[in-house]
Order: sequence, then C-alpha cells, then structure tokens
Amino acid sequence: MHTMEHLTPKQIVAELDKYIIGQDEAKRKVAVALRNRWRRQQLPDALRDEVAPKNIILIGPTGVGKTEIARRLSRLADAPFVKVEASKFTEVGYVGRDCESMIRELTEAAVHIVRTEMQRSLEGKAKENAERRLLDLLLPPQPSRRSPRSEEDDEENKGPVVEPGIEAEARTREILLAKLREGKLDDREVEIESSESASTPMMQVFSNTGLEEMGINLQDMFGKLMPQKTRRRRVKVSDAREILEEEELQNLIDMDAVVREAIPRAENAGIVFLDEIDKVAGRGGSSSGPDVSREGVQRDILPIVEGSNVTTKYGVVRTDHILFIASGAFHMSKVSDLIPELQGRFPIRVELDSLERGDFARILREPQNSLIKQYEALLDTEGVTLEITDDAIEAIARICQQVNEESENIGARRLHTIMEYLLEEISFDAPDCGEKTLRIDGPDVEQRLSRLIEIRDLSQYIL
Ligand SMILES: Nc1ncnc2c1ncn2[C@@H]1O[C@H](COP(=O)(O)OP(=O)(O)OP(=O)(O)O)[C@@H](O)[C@H]1O
Ligand SMILES: [Mg+2]
Repeated sequence: MHTMEHLTPKQIVAELDKYIIGQDEAKRKVAVALRNRWRRQQLPDALRDEVAPKNIILIGPTGVGKTEIARRLSRLADAPFVKVEASKFTEVGYVGRDCESMIRELTEAAVHIVRTEMQRSLEGKAKENAERRLLDLLLPPQPSRRSPRSEEDDEENKGPVVEPGIEAEARTREILLAKLREGKLDDREVEIESSESASTPMMQVFSNTGLEEMGINLQDMFGKLMPQKTRRRRVKVSDAREILEEEELQNLIDMDAVVREAIPRAENAGIVFLDEIDKVAGRGGSSSGPDVSREGVQRDILPIVEGSNVTTKYGVVRTDHILFIASGAFHMSKVSDLIPELQGRFPIRVELDSLERGDFARILREPQNSLIKQYEALLDTEGVTLEITDDAIEAIARICQQVNEESENIGARRLHTIMEYLLEEISFDAPDCGEKTLRIDGPDVEQRLSRLIEIRDLSQYIL
C-alpha cells in the first residue's frame, strides 16, 4: 500500500542519504518514527489504539537540513504529508490561519493520494470506455438501436437481439477498432461534445482564500449552481482520445469511496511537519504583548497533537495517531520554553549538527540534486559545459565556512549565495558564447571571491 512504510529504517536512511549530508541521528530517528507507524498497523485492534506516535522535535541552527529532511521524507513517503509553519498560526478568533487548518490540509493531501491511486487502477477501464465512444463517433450506431453508451456493459457484451446487418456492423467496428489502436486514424477529425471543466480559473482564485479554511467547498457550491457548459468542437482523433479518457476517468471515480479511504489514511499514516515551532515558544505571564499570543497558539496546537476530532469538508478526522515532526532553530528560546503539555507530546528530541567545511564540500558534490549539478544542467541548456574542479569545490567550501564564521552562520544556505556570485558572469554571458567548456579551478574561485571576503562589510551584503 504505502511503499514508504514498507521500507526499513535502514532503507529510509539510505534514501535520505542521497540528498542530505550528515545529520545521521536525525535521519535515524525520523526513520524509526516512520517505521513505527507500520509496526502499529500490524497490531491487533485493541493494542493499536493504545500506541501513540512518538513525535519528534528537530533542533538545530539555521540552514543545516531540518526542513530538507522533512521535504525529502515527504517526497519519499506515499503517506499524506503537510509542512506548516507554526509561526503562521494565530489563536482562534484572531485574523490568520487557525491551527486546525493543518489537519484540513493533511486530509486534502490524503484525498489527493487516494484519488490518484484509484485513478491509476481505473485507467484501463477508462481507456476502454473512451475507445468505445470514439468508435461511436467514427461509425455512429444505427438509429434503430440505442447507443451502446446508454447500455450496461455486460448487457452489451451478451449482444442483444441479433438483427440482420448487425454482424456486418460488428465486423466493421472490429476492423475500425484495430486501426484505431494502431493509431492509423489519429489524424482524422471527429466532433466531440465535452463539458467545460468545472474548475475554472476563477474558482482556483477563490479557493485560496480563507473560506476554504472554514471547510466550505466553493467548487461544490458554485459547480452545482452554474449550468454545466458543454461545447461541441472538431478535434483530431488523437486529441479526442485524451479528452474522452479524462472524462471517462472522472465519471468512473467514486469520490465517496475516495473519501472513505482517505480519512483513515490521514488518521493513521499522516505526517504533519510543524516548522518554526521555536517561534511560538515562550510563555505568557513573564512579559506582555506577543508572548501571550504565542502561548495561545501553543494551546491551540496542543489538542491537535494530543488527539482530537477536527471537522474537515470531507468529514471528521481524528488526530490521535498522526505523526508530528516539529522543528526549530531555538536560538532565542529553548524547548523548555514550550508549555509543558506540548513538551510532553514530543518525547523525541534530536539536535542537528552545525555544518563545517568538509560538509559543505560534500553538499556541493554529493546530493543527487546538488547545487553544482543544478548549475551544470542549467548551463548545459545554453550549450555551455561547466567544469568545476575539485580544488574549486574545496575553495568554495572554505570560503563558505569563513563567511559563516565572520558574519552570520546560515549553514548551507551560504552556498547558494556564493555559487550565484561565483557564476554570475558565466550565467549572464552563457547564451552568447556558443558551444564551449568553461573550467573553474581553485585559483579562479580565490580570485573571484577573495577580494570580497577581505572587505568584510561588503561580503555581508553580497554573500
Ligand atoms: N545536511 C545537508 N545536506 C544537504 N543539503 C543541505 C544540508 N543542510 C542544508 N542543506 C541545504 O541548505 C538549504 C537550507 O536547508 P534547510 O531548509 O533544511 O534549513 P533548516 O535547517 O530548515 O533551517 P531553518 O532553521 O532556517 O529553517 C537547503 O537548500 C538544503 O538543500
Ligand atoms: Mg527550515
């Protein structure tokens, strides 16, 4: 079912290793927490309800991979996943996002996953139906009989009363079908009537507003109010096939069934990544002003993490077994500044390591999507082959370390600004220099960046 949940902790760590350098402890703990979801699913009912998820707090300086671990986990996981920023929430009654919206988003993610799964399993059937409709368009059924579309499938297969001419027609259909499948009719034109998609752009603009957070589905409301527009148009068979398949898929999918499966999926496999939890740390009482509302936000988050029922537009979702992974730099505050009840709900704490020169070099080189690979690919589109030598990478890593120490430590984020600065001219000139190989070595890096570093004030602005 969920491939991710079948992975062992070792395999999960191996997957994360492809993108994130170091931070082994965080990877291990995240992997175990995920595996525990699967273990819980194997338990007998009575015991299963007793096992609470072991929520995690990732603690560490900025730019060391906290969000990246969560982001990668979400890509790997077929589990419903949302990432929300705790600092964006406000207390109930204030303007802003209320905490329960994270569960509504999670449910939305679950519905999306289940719908995609179901669509995949219905694709064959939808293809068949679309093919049949295409045949009808190419060779309209004789008026004496009902169109096959309105008949039940098996009724049609049995073949109703045999009339003269029917067999001949059936044969023609077969021949036509073979041609259709071979793509020989792709360039012919047919006239199709297709309903205009219900989700017009206007709806999408609307659904980003706060209304959705109240669980009101505008699409449902307006979709029913507005007349279904249909449009007749002539299109090529190859296009018609796509349009009809899509339409058949929508007709076949049973949204009630999707929702029935999506809700338990969100409840039992869902993961909520609560970023920037440190920004709501701090308790009321000691000082006035914003702190009071921070504690308020914690008090609103608490019941969700402890387990409660949240109403979504798909129905009530129980949060008892949702896994929460919180994260924060905790520069200005400590985990112990969170209200005790919330601390208790996050039994697993992991401190991430700050990154050093050696890590920076590896981050530049190793991840599957490393910055260097990204720049190489981008410049390749211009016909420019970028070659960054090993000693260039070492030089970049050293400079990254130095700037982090001398101005502000922003971890691996510094690499982005350094690389951008380093490659600025090449990026600008690339389209004009034709097919070419550009080599950047250690001395090039030094030359380009050293002056900047000497003038510390300047490097603070630029790097
Ligand atoms: N250990 C790492 N391995 C590979 N890339 C990393 C690592 N740490 C950070 N990065 C890169 O640095 C950037 C910032 O990392 P990330 O968003 O995870 O920071 P963070 O720890 O969440 O910081 P913050 O506390 O500011 O939110 C990302 O683009 C990521 O690719
Ligand atoms: Mg982050």
